[in-house]
Formats: sequence, C-alpha cells, structure tokens
Amino acid sequence: MGSSALRVFVKNQGKVFDEANLIAVEEGSGRLIAIGDRAKSMLGRENKKIKVVKPVKNGIIADFDACGLILKYIIDKFCKGTMIRPYLTIGISPLSSQIDQHLLMEAALSAGAKKVFLLKKPVAAALGNGINVTNASGRLIVDIGSDSTNIGLVSLGTVVSNTAIDIGGANYDRKIIEYLKKRHSLLIGEITAERVKMMIGGVLKREETEYFEVKGKNMKKGLPAVKRISSREISRLFLDDVKKIIEAIFDVVSNTPQELESDVKRYGIILTGGGSLVYGVKTLIENTLKLKVTMSDEPLESSIIGLSKATEQRVSLDKLGII
Ligand SMILES: Nc1ncnc2c1ncn2[C@@H]1O[C@H](COP(=O)(O)OP(=O)(O)OP(=O)(O)O)[C@@H](O)[C@H]1O
Ligand SMILES: [Mg+2]
Repeated sequence: MGSSALRVFVKNQGKVFDEANLIAVEEGSGRLIAIGDRAKSMLGRENKKIKVVKPVKNGIIADFDACGLILKYIIDKFCKGTMIRPYLTIGISPLSSQIDQHLLMEAALSAGAKKVFLLKKPVAAALGNGINVTNASGRLIVDIGSDSTNIGLVSLGTVVSNTAIDIGGANYDRKIIEYLKKRHSLLIGEITAERVKMMIGGVLKREETEYFEVKGKNMKKGLPAVKRISSREISRLFLDDVKKIIEAIFDVVSNTPQELESDVKRYGIILTGGGSLVYGVKTLIENTLKLKVTMSDEPLESSIIGLSKATEQRVSLDKLGII
C-alpha cells in the first residue's frame, strides 16, 4: 500500500491488482463505493454523499478504516468462493509506530485474514532486488515513491538505520502544474502533469532537448489550449527536491555503524521506487555522493516482489524475527 499505488500479489498467480491507492466511500455509512482507478476518476467530482479517501499519505497509513475496507475488498475478491482465509504480508514504513502496526494487524484480521505479517518496506525492496536479507552485509536501499522517500540500511533482515522524507515524484508533478500556470497561463491537472514528467522531465540536461505538446486550459481565456513545452524549461523544477533526497541519503551514510561502512562503500546504493525513474536522478545521486548506484530492475514493483518472496520464505524469516 503506497501513497499512490495499491499493488497486490497472490501466491501462484502473481500481480493481480495495480491501481491508484484510493477509495470512494459513502458519507455517513462509510460504505465502499469504488476502489483504485475508479475511485481516482471520482476525484474532484465528490459530492455530499461520496468522498474519495487516500489511505496512505507520505508513505504512512493515514486512515485505518479505509485500509480495512481495502483489505476486505481484496480478500473477498481474490479468495471468492474458496472459503480460504488468507495469510497476508503487508509492507509498512520503517517509521510506523507500534500502535500503527497493531491497528493495521487488527484491520487485516477483521477484514478476514487468518494471519498477518508485516515487513518493513526497505527489507521488502531488498528482497525484491534479489538480496539475501538474512545475510549480515549492509545494503543501502533508497526508495523514491510518490509522496515520500525511504532510505534504509538493511542488514540481517532488519533496518539498521533509516529515515524518510516527504518528497517523491508527486512533488515534481505539483511543480510542473505551478510552472505552467505562472509561465504559460496553462491550467493542467495532476494526470497531465505526471505525463509531462514522464515524457520530458528530468534533473539533468539531456544531450538533445525533447518537446511535448501539453493540453490544458488557458487561464486568461478559459478555453482549451495546447502548449509545446521543452525538457529544458522544466529540468530544474525537481532539482531542489532531489538535492534534499541526496542530503537525507548522506545523513544515513554518515550515521552508518562502523562495521557496515565498508559494505556501503562496496555495494553502494540500490535505487528503487517510481520517482527514481525521473531522468538523471540516478546519475545525480551517483555523482554527488560518489557511491555506486544500482537501479532496480523493477522500480515500481520491487517492494511487492519482495513481499511475495517473503511469503515464500516466511518460515525462515519468522524464525529470525524479520517478519
Ligand atoms: N516512468 C516514470 N518516470 C518518472 N516517474 C515515474 C515513472 N513511473 C512512475 N513514476 C512516478 O513514480 C511515483 C510512484 O512511485 P511508487 O509506486 O514507487 O510510489 P508509492 O509506493 O505509491 O508511494 P510511496 O512510496 O511514497 O508511498 C509517481 O510519482 C509516478 O508519477
Ligand atoms: Mg512506495
């Protein structure tokens, strides 16, 4: 359950759900009306009866009732007709409190889970990147998500040191919206801004400037408008945020226990999360910190792949108290 995406893996089936992590509920009764992309399409069109809820904010669970509704929906949908009460493995922020973990467990059990296992997301991401987390060697995981960046040093299956900051790919979307409004009097929504970021966004200069025709509404005339935007003009908008991410990585590296320092130097950083796909982010981190940065093969899915691996290795991870 991420700030932007809800992804579900089912054993022997693989990924069965990958949509926006949003639900629409009926005001008053709290009844679930829509989930995922369908709930997203209702954003901005809410009324007295329907509200759209974001269960995870800045990587942290913000609404446990909403999580309960989601988990119940998932269990009902994927265990339908089987009478099976599933084992659930859920990724959590390493910053989540004991109370939060307890509330999530309760929500999952009430939703129909037989047993619930919680795994810290950096450990899940390490597993998802093929790392043997029961091994002592320290691995630094940097997960740039949509609203948050999690930086965790993982060793022996635990997160030895970590930090999280409220910066992710969605910050860039918001800056693009602001920029187009101010510079081009062009009003665009979040979905268009995200597309602009993916097509021509970046934090480093490209060899060749790229262009993208952005469709929006002219603020002055109130009419639909199209503007050709260059990668150059939006390339500095995310720079300060990425610099803050780099500072946060630097802090974790500086506070690495002495016995793991050589591991960090040797293995460098594993970079994951959708925000790390922004052009130039990897290179900027690498050049600034002078550490090797390995990009995850599946930046959007490494945590969920790790969770599915954890489910397979549950017994051994359980014995070590990792899960
Ligand atoms: N190809 C791409 N280029 C640039 N950004 C991308 C790309 N694909 C996805 N993103 C961005 O990645 C972010 C989503 O990443 P991810 O799914 O890892 O986040 P999350 O896990 O939901 O959030 P969080 O970790 O903050 O809880 C969004 O901001 C999205 O726009
Ligand atoms: Mg995430």
